[in-house]
Amino acid sequence: MKITVVGAGAVGATCADNIARMELAEELVLLDIREGFAEGKALDICQTSSLSGFDTRVIGVTNDYSKTANSNVVVITSGIPRKPGMTREELIGTNARIVEDVCKNLLKHSPDAIVVVISNPMDTMTYLALKSTGLPKHRIIGMGGILDSSRFKTYLQKELNCSQNDLHAVVIGGHGDTTMIPLTRLATINGTPVSNLLSDEKLKQVAADTMVGGATLTKLLGTSAWYAPGAAGAALVASIIRNQKKVFPCCVYLEGEYGQTDICMGVPVVIGKDGWESIIDYKLNEEEQAAFNKSAEAVRSMNKVLETLVTA
Ligand code: 2OP
Repeated sequence: MKITVVGAGAVGATCADNIARMELAEELVLLDIREGFAEGKALDICQTSSLSGFDTRVIGVTNDYSKTANSNVVVITSGIPRKPGMTREELIGTNARIVEDVCKNLLKHSPDAIVVVISNPMDTMTYLALKSTGLPKHRIIGMGGILDSSRFKTYLQKELNCSQNDLHAVVIGGHGDTTMIPLTRLATINGTPVSNLLSDEKLKQVAADTMVGGATLTKLLGTSAWYAPGAAGAALVASIIRNQKKVFPCCVYLEGEYGQTDICMGVPVVIGKDGWESIIDYKLNEEEQAAFNKSAEAVRSMNKVLETLVTA
């Protein structure tokens, strides 16, 4: 197996580090546009090989896509991250051109790859990747919901004083501060609804904290987060490479599911060797469906901005 991660910034390098440690591939290529940068990050990761006990070969390259040839999975993290006070949506102008370009270069050398999109604004970048490459929809997966769900679990854990690993909690909708939907009604601790254990008020606070989870970190760090985004990307790649059939909330192309069409948004999907295999219907209640529709409106208007930006 071979995996490529494009973008050796904090998220890309952390994702690569996780993939290497998990030994998801024999070969892992890290590519960046900055001269020597990916080579440096790859070498640093390689030097943890004997310490952490993995044998993945990690190679760094400066913009040389020929070295990414025949990758089974490619992960796109390229683009600028947000600064404090910025929304993910404000990145669209710069990142759309970068993501479109990266997709073309990657697929030239790995025409059969499954494409994982992490770049922001993630829902729109996933839609752009799909439309600009014309790949079958099952091979394009946006990673946002796995990260948002892990943040949801962290905030729930703080209230419940439990193991995050006993929590099942999912965030669907867009990957934006106002578009994501933490499904508090369906969150459980090993099957017990968390709504039996926490007041409505507390649950609302947990949901609100989850929604601004990325912005909270951006404010604290001065740039966007990387440990959880990188680990979430690697978890998604693992389910593809190992054909685990995990159910993860991911951003995929909808054709009527959850009442939406011609849009990429976060819904629960089964992830296996061919990409996303099927969409699970959570049977949203009226309030949740209304939130999903509102989220779709926001994502759709962001997608419209693409028409003014992308030339190809
Ligand atoms: C985040 O939410 C990078 O979008 C990512 O931290």
